[in-house]
Amino acid sequence: MNCIGSGKEKAPILVLGGTGHYGRHIVRSLLEKGRSVQVLSRNAANARDVLGDGVRIVEGDITSRDSVVEALRGVRAVVISVSAFTPRSIRRLRLIECDSVLMVLENARDAGVSRIVFISVYDIREDLLRELNLDPESARIKLEVEAALAVSEFNWTVLGAAPSMQIFFAMIRGDTMIVPGGGPPALPTVSRMDVGEIAAQAVLRDDLHRKRVRLTGPEAFSFREAALRISAATGRSIRFRKIPLLPLEIASIVTRPVNPFLSHLLPMVKLMNNFPLDVAAQVPQDHQWLVDTFKYAPTTLEMEAQRWMKT
Ligand SMILES: NC(=O)c1ccc[n+]([C@@H]2O[C@H](COP(=O)([O-])OP(=O)(O)OC[C@H]3O[C@@H](n4cnc5c(N)ncnc54)[C@H](OP(=O)(O)O)[C@@H]3O)[C@@H](O)[C@H]2O)c1
Repeated sequence: MNCIGSGKEKAPILVLGGTGHYGRHIVRSLLEKGRSVQVLSRNAANARDVLGDGVRIVEGDITSRDSVVEALRGVRAVVISVSAFTPRSIRRLRLIECDSVLMVLENARDAGVSRIVFISVYDIREDLLRELNLDPESARIKLEVEAALAVSEFNWTVLGAAPSMQIFFAMIRGDTMIVPGGGPPALPTVSRMDVGEIAAQAVLRDDLHRKRVRLTGPEAFSFREAALRISAATGRSIRFRKIPLLPLEIASIVTRPVNPFLSHLLPMVKLMNNFPLDVAAQVPQDHQWLVDTFKYAPTTLEMEAQRWMKT
């Protein structure tokens, strides 16, 4: 393995989306490895609170070329973990996650960046999209960025991240896990800490060129099973409850003129409910590959559940 910036030259690494759910763990893991890190954030004070003093923060927006050029100063490797999948940013989804990311690639090339790690989605099956008559823009955008990387001269790696294990905890209200559509029989999920560690190791390596990696935790399981396992791990009884998708469908139509967030969320929820069984069946092999390739101790749902109890 040949490391980026090993030896005397240790150029800073830019993490775009470095304050985010996955990004902050990528930053933390890079700092733990003694690397200097730069982060572009729209709110420097918040970024400082989240990341501490050990990071160079460039205040700016990824849609601004000037901000991007400033953030890329002195950098040789970039992790792209930016997301606009929030009610506040969803109208600018394509601008932020696609047009601006492509602009970053253009400027990164000019700035002499050689290594790019792109955090994408786990797996997008065209046949499933056709079968369900869905064309979620958030997934389509990821494919467009991946296609641009594929024809670029960067040393690139795509990490297709599974949904965060936090998805289970986010659906718990009181003592009930409430799941629109009930979820699939088996869904891969991953701990944000593992995403952070693997992405940090990946960007420091240059032997993962042109690889698309599926980044998953050790097992795929249903929401019902997750509720049982969280109960067993914490001693707190969590019930599982499936609710119909219809209210979400109605809400997405009603709210669309004001805010299109739910109309972007709905196809993702439908895709999740129809998660392909054959892809879920490959999770043990995909995970074994990660364990064989990276040095880390994988986080289980039980470990996340115990952390969740303490918060
Ligand atoms: N979370 C999941 O379960 C999950 C699952 C699969 C794949 N992924 C993928 O993982 C990646 C990261 O997702 P996440 O959940 O960690 O995102 P997140 O928590 O929503 O964080 C979004 C990040 O993007 C930055 N950002 C947003 N708009 C920006 C703008 N205009 N200019 C500069 N920065 C901007 C934010 O920075 P500031 O607010 O500091 O500006 C923040 O750091 C995405 O590619 C996502 O598709 C996530």
